[in-house]
Amino acid sequence: KNRVFSGAQPSGKMTLGNYLGAFKNWVALQQDYECLYCVVDMHAITVWQDPADLAAQTREAAAAYLACGVNPKESILFNQSQVSGHAELSWIFNCIARLGWLNRMTQFKDKAGKNSQNASTGLYVYPNLMAADILLYQATHVPVGDDQKQHLELTRDIAAKFNHDYNTEIFPEVHPIIMGEGARIMSLRDGSKKMSKSDPSEASRINLNDTSDILAKKIRKAKTDPELIPAKAELLEGRPEAQNLIGIMAALAERSRDDICAEYEGKGFGDFKKGLTEVVIDKLAPITEEMARLQNEPAYIDQVLRDGSERASALSEPILKEVKKIVGFIQ
Ligand code: TYM
Repeated sequence: KNRVFSGAQPSGKMTLGNYLGAFKNWVALQQDYECLYCVVDMHAITVWQDPADLAAQTREAAAAYLACGVNPKESILFNQSQVSGHAELSWIFNCIARLGWLNRMTQFKDKAGKNSQNASTGLYVYPNLMAADILLYQATHVPVGDDQKQHLELTRDIAAKFNHDYNTEIFPEVHPIIMGEGARIMSLRDGSKKMSKSDPSEASRINLNDTSDILAKKIRKAKTDPELIPAKAELLEGRPEAQNLIGIMAALAERSRDDICAEYEGKGFGDFKKGLTEVVIDKLAPITEEMARLQNEPAYIDQVLRDGSERASALSEPILKEVKKIVGFIQ
């Protein structure tokens, strides 16, 4: 029995990185799997979120899922805080995961920064909540970008330790689904940093609801190098910004990097960026348009989330009940 779970944090606007690393694959998986796609609002508050902004960003994230092609009839689209089992199971996992495991998490180190004593304790146990998200539904497959790999390894460790400590097989082995080309989209300003909703530089990312003019401007201003485009992608070694832009075109157009290099061989990035702008607009304009339409339908979005949350609760309840029984909680 295969089940897919994935999610994104409503901590800002959804980016091209979220689309290529995650949403695009979510949509494709709907045909073969039972899928749950969650807006993880509880993860978002591990760093401060203004309440009105959080609600707006949660609706916007849901609108992005829908606009990208998540079908709320087939799949379960919901927000995490409406299903209390996430919080309940994450507490149990706080008691399973070891300090040493969490201390190895690179995302905590990145996000907490130098002043880590001032980070919320929620940010620290964030991966335990993520494990709870997945295992609350006994999900087996998790489509994510490359940056979530370490968290999924922790999820596997938590599942294995719980199963071992309580001598059970309740939690399945979790398999990451990480797609090649789009798995690691980098900042437009710095090819060594990932494209992120929380980067202070707006010019570093493409948002799914950027207008065509803004997209074009961001691509025009994207950092590159003065070298020409080589005949083969392997010759891009050591040129992270060039690799990233060619990778974005490859992922969006579903072509190989070699194929794109062959097309633009001997040309500079000025020419390439014109082609890239066309591809980005071609792929994103329908999504942007649908997101704009859904922005005027907050009641519809809330209804989708409520309906999804009810279905998610129904799926999770018997599993959580069993977990509580295994742990020895009277109920
Ligand atoms: P988040 O909100 O940072 O990102 C959502 C998804 O988008 C992917 N992604 C990227 N992929 C490629 N290039 C990028 N630059 C890029 N930026 C983001 C992420 O890998 C992710 O798949 N912890 C998760 C949310 C989460 C979750 C879960 C995911 C909570 N519970 C359970 C899967 C299963 C996160 O912060 O994603």
